[in-house]
Amino acid sequence: METIVQYLLLALALTSVQISYTESRLNEKRRDKTERRYHATQLKDNICETTDRESKVHCYCENTEVKTATRADCWVFNGGIDESNPIWSSFSSQPYLERLTFNVRSDGALKFIPMQVIHRLKRLQKLYIHYATLSKIEKKTFSNMSTVREITLMNNKISELDFSSFTNLPALVNLTIKENKVTEIQRDVFVDLPSLRCLDLSFNSINLAHDGCFEHLTVLNDLILEANSITILTRDTFRGLANLTRLDLRSNKLSMIGDLTFTELWNLNELLLDNNELKYLSERAFDGLVLLQKLSMTGNKLKSINEGLLEGVRGLDLLDLRNNEIEFFSYENVKPIIENLKMKTSVLYLSGNNLSCDCRLSWIQSLKNETKSEVLRTALDDVTCIPMVSGKSERISNDVTQYEIKESKNIFEVVTSSDLLQQDANDGEFYEETNQSLKSDPTVQPLVREQVTVIDMPVDSLPCPSELTQNKEDSLMLSSKDENYWRTNSCITVHSNLFTVLSLFVMTILQ
Ligand SMILES: *[C@@H]1O[C@H](CO)[C@@H](O)[C@H](O)[C@H]1NC(C)=O
Ligand SMILES: *[C@@H]1O[C@H](CO)[C@@H](O)[C@H](O)[C@H]1NC(C)=O
Ligand SMILES: *[C@@H]1O[C@H](CO)[C@@H](O)[C@H](O)[C@H]1NC(C)=O
Ligand SMILES: *[C@@H]1O[C@H](CO)[C@@H](O)[C@H](O)[C@H]1NC(C)=O
Ligand SMILES: *[C@@H]1O[C@H](CO)[C@@H](O)[C@H](O)[C@H]1NC(C)=O
Ligand SMILES: *[C@@H]1O[C@H](CO)[C@@H](O)[C@H](O)[C@H]1NC(C)=O
Repeated sequence: METIVQYLLLALALTSVQISYTESRLNEKRRDKTERRYHATQLKDNICETTDRESKVHCYCENTEVKTATRADCWVFNGGIDESNPIWSSFSSQPYLERLTFNVRSDGALKFIPMQVIHRLKRLQKLYIHYATLSKIEKKTFSNMSTVREITLMNNKISELDFSSFTNLPALVNLTIKENKVTEIQRDVFVDLPSLRCLDLSFNSINLAHDGCFEHLTVLNDLILEANSITILTRDTFRGLANLTRLDLRSNKLSMIGDLTFTELWNLNELLLDNNELKYLSERAFDGLVLLQKLSMTGNKLKSINEGLLEGVRGLDLLDLRNNEIEFFSYENVKPIIENLKMKTSVLYLSGNNLSCDCRLSWIQSLKNETKSEVLRTALDDVTCIPMVSGKSERISNDVTQYEIKESKNIFEVVTSSDLLQQDANDGEFYEETNQSLKSDPTVQPLVREQVTVIDMPVDSLPCPSELTQNKEDSLMLSSKDENYWRTNSCITVHSNLFTVLSLFVMTILQ
């Protein structure tokens, strides 16, 4: 008895399943029919004259008649729209579009690239998609579009670029994938782009650019990687970019630049490394950049600059080192580019550092005298240094100059016993000027109080640190032209170090 009941129940269940299945198939057929009818009416629709108020896409064109528009600005409104929506086929009413923009008005309203639209427009030159939700650009999404010259994908939440996502675009000149969430640049993402001049990947989250990831971009001029999270560059990161003239790496997380990082960038003219965390630049970091004219590294953490650093970039005529923590910047540092700095358009910015006021800065005054560049003269006026003060007596470097620094009502006053300094200081006017020049440079961070303007210090008052003056009485009169002094001096240091090491060695042996 029980088994019979079970049997009946099972049979009943099966029948109802079948009924609902048939029903749903019928429904599907009905839906298909209505959709096809809908489709047919929409096909006649002109994308530039959408009459349907419910439509999720509205385009504004410069000409609205069928087959006349060359430019369409389309807005995608709220509510998800899928790839099978008939609106996409109505783009066939305007086959001659050269410029097409999709602006998505609300989050998640467009989650794919309307492939059937963009690949059918045979004259499309410029494509812009903004504020969509694209997450991943699949393989060959942008490929084989022979007329496209510019693609801009801004603010689309793109986090991944697949291999060959941009490939075989013979006319593509500008590619912008800005303000997205890309974390990594793999190799072979950008392939067969023989005309690409400008690649903008700024404001993403790129923390890794694989070796050789740009190597197919042989005619690229401008690579913008600003505002990412790049920590490491290798010798191979920029491999193959022989025509690059501008490289923008501002606002990343670079802490060091190793030897020959940019060595293949023979044509590089401008290198921007501002607002990173640079602490260390190896001596040959910029070697190979024979045409580099502009090098900018403001807002880093550089404490010292290797004396040979600029040897590799002798063409430099704009060097910006503002807002670092540089303590010494001697004539040896600038020597490789000193002739360029005398030319009309050159600039060297050094303000906002921790330079100490000593005779190693005397070249600043000579350079100000000699340069033809008005901008450089102004920039040198803004260079400040920290007077060498020791203990309470605030005595500086024995017999030449002594001055005290007093604080009074936020104004710093220097009282000096040196005739020379007094003459020049002219009853405190000197320090008012300092105050003004510190205030007038908006790019300089609030300066540490004690800093004074280098250019206002009489050359002879710039003391030489005692370790440098030890063996040379006349070194205080040093001007930037006495190049040999520093060499002999560093030799002496080396020798004395060597001596220490040797004696230690001998002592160890004796023990
Ligand atoms: C692009 O063109 C190449 C050769 O011209 C062809 O082999 C490939 O299938 C095309 N790709 C697409 C996605 O159309
Ligand atoms: C590429 O971008 C540059 C600078 O933004 C612009 O001057 C140029 O006209 C663009 N080229 C094309 C083909 O869009
Ligand atoms: C790009 O670089 C190659 C190799 O250095 C060179 O032959 C070519 O002339 C360059 N093209 C342009 C447009 O600078
Ligand atoms: C720079 O100098 C100021 C004042 O002398 C000091 O407070 C600061 O710690 C220095 N910065 C570095 C990194 O040495
Ligand atoms: C700069 O030039 C002025 C006058 O031309 C001269 O008096 C001064 O000594 C020069 N200073 C330096 C550091 O060469
Ligand atoms: C110096 O600067 C401070 C603050 O920036 C200001 O209050 C003061 O009036 C200035 N002094 C002179 C003499 O310009």
